[in-house]
Amino acid sequence: MNSLILVTGAGGQVGVELIRRGPLRGHQIIGLARADLDISDGEAVSRCLADRRPGVVINAAAYTAVDKAESDEAAAQAGNEAGPANLARACAEIDVPLIHISTDYVFDGTKQGAYAETDPVHPLGVYGITKEAGEQRVRDAWKRHVILRTSWVYAAHGGNFVRTMLRLGAERDELGVVADQAGTPTSAGDIAEAALSIAEQVAAGRDDAWGTYHFTAKGSTTWHGFAEEIFRRAEPVLGKRPKVNAITTADFPTPARRPANSVLDCSRIDAVLAPPRRSWQEGLADVLSELLEDGAQQ
Ligand SMILES: NC(=O)c1ccc[n+]([C@@H]2O[C@H](COP(=O)([O-])OP(=O)(O)OC[C@H]3O[C@@H](n4cnc5c(N)ncnc54)[C@H](OP(=O)(O)O)[C@@H]3O)[C@@H](O)[C@H]2O)c1
Repeated sequence: MNSLILVTGAGGQVGVELIRRGPLRGHQIIGLARADLDISDGEAVSRCLADRRPGVVINAAAYTAVDKAESDEAAAQAGNEAGPANLARACAEIDVPLIHISTDYVFDGTKQGAYAETDPVHPLGVYGITKEAGEQRVRDAWKRHVILRTSWVYAAHGGNFVRTMLRLGAERDELGVVADQAGTPTSAGDIAEAALSIAEQVAAGRDDAWGTYHFTAKGSTTWHGFAEEIFRRAEPVLGKRPKVNAITTADFPTPARRPANSVLDCSRIDAVLAPPRRSWQEGLADVLSELLEDGAQQ
């Protein structure tokens, strides 16, 4: 099987890291941002895959604006359900594996303890509902898929919690951050490395590992704990350590409801595909050094 990897959503957090890291692992990558390929256009997707003939497709495209999705259901459905359905169908047409990225927000957060792949899904908002529907469309259309559910994604680029905290921390001495939602911050770079490791395995002919997996960094925290760790590590560069006050979800109303617990149990992926997986603090350290060395923290 050829190891040419086609990446959709190449302009996003995970997409950028795939484009960066693929060549470092010896791969030829075709990176397609939304302007190059809108995955909600079924004909364009089929034509593109038939022309480019990749060995593996990684879908990093998604409608990720969790709150905006509540009032923009059609766009969320197009990116998160129709898009993956089109990709899975087109991959089946040319007999190529699809690695599709999904989310912890397929769960409602009421479980005590980490969610396994076998736990029932019950998304709380439009984003999670459309992502869950997208997973299902992938499963229905094409057996040779790997769905990776991940969580709390951040990178040195793009819109994310780490960059928001650094901006707010530079402006203020004190801020309130939600302390009653638990999950695992996972760097886009770590997700890209995992997806590439899986792409390598399936491109080399591995044919026994299709299905749905949880992949996050190791450990868990709350948004409050995440903010504290960001400021602890950034203090030497920020020149101060803003005080992080613990607030509740009820204190910070948002259009979309979010799961109180979306910690994912990753034992299945550790046992079967075994991509590299390190602590969330190690992933954060790398992203912060990239951001703070660049002076890009604003
Ligand atoms: N961000 C998180 O916290 C988080 C948490 C759990 C799981 N995930 C999942 O992880 C994956 C990667 O997320 P990310 O954080 O890298 O997201 P991101 O930074 O928002 O990137 C997504 C990219 O997809 C593009 N896109 C949206 N609709 C498209 C379409 N119809 N056709 C082609 N491209 C389209 C976006 O382009 P535009 O910018 O032009 O819209 C954007 O460049 C997604 O599957 C997401 O659901 C993310």
